[in-house]
Amino acid sequence: MRTFSLDNHMNNAISDWHTDHLYFAHLLDLLQKQVGSFFEGKQPNYRLIAKIVEYMRDYGDRVHHPREDVAFSLLVERYPDMQLVVNRLLQEHQVIAETSAQLLEHFNGAELDVITPRDVLVALAAVYLAYYRNHLSTEEKLVIPRAVKMLNAEDWAKVDVVVPASAQSLRGISLQEHFETLRKQIHDEERLDS
Ligand SMILES: [Fe+2]
Ligand SMILES: [Fe+2]
Repeated sequence: MRTFSLDNHMNNAISDWHTDHLYFAHLLDLLQKQVGSFFEGKQPNYRLIAKIVEYMRDYGDRVHHPREDVAFSLLVERYPDMQLVVNRLLQEHQVIAETSAQLLEHFNGAELDVITPRDVLVALAAVYLAYYRNHLSTEEKLVIPRAVKMLNAEDWAKVDVVVPASAQSLRGISLQEHFETLRKQIHDEERLDS
């Protein structure tokens, strides 16, 4: 039965990875739509934008990227030719983190009526969107298929123990609760907006 549970482990880890990407892609579409409001002469929903970026930053920093770090390094051990693409992805994690911080600063400020020129917000969001979409597409096309082929159930178990979500907290709230709240807030704002 051990094999069965390890296989399950593996399938869950892969499908969680892909599901994270699908949700990120959905959030990027929402963000793009909000930024597009500027061009229709409307005010974007700053609260929604800030929640989207906050979710992507916190979930990325605390869950998604630490898991990827482990999966990537196991993959490079097996496929040294993956080193270049993995290095690029790791650098992109840094650019994404830096851009998220800037976006959050500006959009939180915008909500509080601290004026940031519209062009700055649009340009920052455009860099973030382009980088993130390209990043997701590289992981989906070049990395996940290799990982599915090459990583075994024990490797996935190593990926899985990186983030025992239940054991972690952020500002006194469990991570799981923090992410659930953000997802709900995003969903509610999204409904109000449509
Ligand atoms: Fe990534
Ligand atoms: Fe990813």
